[in-house]
Amino acid sequence: MLLGVNIDHVATLRNARGELEPSVIEAAQVCIKAGANGITAHLREDRRHIVDYDVFAIKNDLKCKLNLEMAATYEMKKIALEILPYSCCIVPENRQEITTEGGLDVYSQPGKIKEYVKPLIEAGIQVSLFIDPERNQVSAAAETGAQFIELHTGAFSRAYGKSNEDIEFKKLKQAASFAHLLGLKVNAGHGLNYQNVSKMHDIDGLYELNIGHSIISRAIFTGLDCAVSEMLSLVNKN
Ligand code: PXP
Repeated sequence: MLLGVNIDHVATLRNARGELEPSVIEAAQVCIKAGANGITAHLREDRRHIVDYDVFAIKNDLKCKLNLEMAATYEMKKIALEILPYSCCIVPENRQEITTEGGLDVYSQPGKIKEYVKPLIEAGIQVSLFIDPERNQVSAAAETGAQFIELHTGAFSRAYGKSNEDIEFKKLKQAASFAHLLGLKVNAGHGLNYQNVSKMHDIDGLYELNIGHSIISRAIFTGLDCAVSEMLSLVNKN
């Protein structure tokens, strides 16, 4: 499995003071040097953490694999086509939410999503749809032309160590295997941490995990390079 490090919360800390520290681009550099396979950044409509120049700098100066998370809006499509990141992960966005709460509802709008992602795919961008681990969402995602889905692991992460852990885990496993049957590549992310991430090895064929909050949190105590290396050793473990 590959590891994409989500660096949104480096920007959260920077924006808390409205200054330039900590540097998002420097953080991305450290992650890549520590062995991360790519950098994920969510350019939200309200620019609450990552801002436009962060994603342009990651793509143009760092030249690493950038996974741009974004809502399915006209503005974001325009930016993505300008930046041409390695991949775009389409997420739902709600102004009031603290973080991405649920998956994208592809099932009720497959035609709209298909039309939205078409120019991104034609521009050579790998497109991923962030969905809940539900059969109808997976089959709708397969109709859109997107090459990837990213399974929302938030419910599993919240259930970890509790009585409903197995139920939530089974949903992920079944959704991943159904997606593979339909020819989709499968990523996963949200709420994964140093305790629960090893369970992802029990899901066959996962391609990449996108992990942010737990890595940036640990970095406060260990340094970012150690936090990334430690996560990588768990992600790469067979
Ligand atoms: N994947 C997606 C699509 C997300 O929206 C997020 C959160 O921004 C993550 C992964 C990373 O989640 P976390 O910060 O909880 O690791």
